[in-house]
Amino acid sequence: MAQQASDDLRFVVAIDLGTTYSCYAFSPIKDQGRDSIFMNRDWTNDDGVRTSKTPTCLLLKSDLSFDSFGYEAVQKYTGHQDKCRKGGYLFFQHFKMALHSDETINTETTIKASNGQLVKAKTVIATSINFLKKEALKVIRTQTGDISANDILWVLTVPAIWTPRAKQFMREVAYEAGLGSPDNPNQVLIALEPEAIFCLTKDMSTFKSEPGCISVKRQVFSQPNTHFMVVDIGGTTLDVTVHAFKEDGAIKEIHKVTGSHYGGIYVNQRFESLLEELFGAQELQTYRKQFPSHWLRLMSEFESKKRGERILDDTAMINIRLPRSFVRLVNQTRSPAMARYGEKEVKLEDEEYLSLSSGMMKKLFTPVMESIKKHLKTLLKKPQLSEVKTIFLVGGFADSVLLQNEIEREFSKGFRVLIPNCVSLAVVHGAVIFGKEPSKITEIVVGTTYGANCARDFIPGVYPEEKKFSADGIEKCGGLFNLFVKQNAVVRIREKTVTSKYTLLRATDTEINFSFYASTNPDAKYITDPGMTKLGSVMDTSPDTWRGKDREIEVSMYFGGTEITATARDISSGNVCSNHP
Ligand SMILES: Nc1ncnc2c1ncn2[C@@H]1O[C@H](COP(=O)(O)OP(=O)(O)OP(=O)(O)O)[C@@H](O)[C@H]1O
Ligand SMILES: [Mg+2]
Repeated sequence: MAQQASDDLRFVVAIDLGTTYSCYAFSPIKDQGRDSIFMNRDWTNDDGVRTSKTPTCLLLKSDLSFDSFGYEAVQKYTGHQDKCRKGGYLFFQHFKMALHSDETINTETTIKASNGQLVKAKTVIATSINFLKKEALKVIRTQTGDISANDILWVLTVPAIWTPRAKQFMREVAYEAGLGSPDNPNQVLIALEPEAIFCLTKDMSTFKSEPGCISVKRQVFSQPNTHFMVVDIGGTTLDVTVHAFKEDGAIKEIHKVTGSHYGGIYVNQRFESLLEELFGAQELQTYRKQFPSHWLRLMSEFESKKRGERILDDTAMINIRLPRSFVRLVNQTRSPAMARYGEKEVKLEDEEYLSLSSGMMKKLFTPVMESIKKHLKTLLKKPQLSEVKTIFLVGGFADSVLLQNEIEREFSKGFRVLIPNCVSLAVVHGAVIFGKEPSKITEIVVGTTYGANCARDFIPGVYPEEKKFSADGIEKCGGLFNLFVKQNAVVRIREKTVTSKYTLLRATDTEINFSFYASTNPDAKYITDPGMTKLGSVMDTSPDTWRGKDREIEVSMYFGGTEITATARDISSGNVCSNHP
């Protein structure tokens, strides 16, 4: 549950481990505002270009110990491919995608390294977070002298559309990486990316879309009950939320988070498909296996061209430098597809470059851009969103001039489209503010249905026979889903949101175990129904057996904005047990 940082914590450090790029930012807890937010030192890529984010790539040694992260991991892997292969180094990229759709993610879930070896997702992600943690500590120490991980409130960002199970998994991984611990859970906050951005909106003053406009603050942010849509488009995730400021400056959620797996990476995937079309899927497959690091270099080259503004120039040809090994492959295949497109669209230049017209480049963006626009259009038609007049566009992919133009063209007639100058760092900056003032968000719309298991007196014909059991001579039906909160309900956060009373099944029971579930079906009846995910459990003790079955346990769920805490309290003894289920 998001709680105010305790007094002895000195810094907030937000770690944004993205699917494609990562970074961190920090700020002394006592200082207010955005001016005191510091970023990591710039990272330097192969061409000496400095960037605020580094690729989310990890290189592990054969014994699974850490070797390098980010550009360094890429450079080492691409520069010493044979050594990496012989030495059994393991290279991981885009590994966070494993958490996107896996409802059953757990500590045993594995991720494939580029050589095909399977390693636990928990190890890969915790090692990456641990690297960013150590980097952050190093930088803060240069400014403040001695400081330890225990002096810090750690904020980890997660896409809002992730399943509750995946969000919980990130908390477990944080502990594994040495951020907080199960005994000290309040030292870690899990921040939903669009909510983190929302925390920043009041501090945003310069916008790409409205250069020189200082009135935005007055016209938009200072007006209570103005509904905003935050559209966060990263490497693989589109997260959309709608919030409003209340009279007292607090934030309430107007619509639950929606989104899908759309993001910048899908442009790269389209480029891969184009290469397959041009040079043969089978050949590409072999090439990737034979020259994995050259392949990585080719994709990095595409990545930098994809970010360029030349794409807007209709007459431009965009040159993508090819590794020599790739040129050899290309020369062997002599693709008929290339002839079909014609030299104005695609050609090989000087045996060194693949030259694509800006039109061809744009086509690589089209499917993902269309999906994003379609999602937003459908959403904005909903009656609950009729008051939305402002759309914030943020996230790394929102830095694409092509995407910006498309969104503005589509939506600027009906909406004010605001693109802050810090698009790609908005998440991490917002997460720092979220850490400093988590109480800014006061009301949320619950995106999933939550509940716990329970047993009730058996009613023949109503409950299935196979769920019948006997407790102290009374027939019961077990495995029922006791609804706590239904999808789309508005709840006030950091308050005891939903409570349910349980009695003990047997007079001699001294312990009672509650399991908590998220359900995609708001009307689910049993914990075995489809779409049910177990989130965790809480065990409470109830020692006063002399009261027999006449003992009540109060089970509550608190919504912390991002996470849920479950509490079971034995009313007679006062014994309490809490957990992030
Ligand atoms: N100027 C640009 N033009 C086009 N694409 C860009 C530009 N800048 C960044 N991107 C794309 O944005 C994506 C990275 O965005 P971001 O750093 O927000 O993602 P992430 O945090 O790794 O992903 P996620 O939030 O989905 O886990 C990459 O696909 C990158 O190619
Ligand atoms: Mg991100």
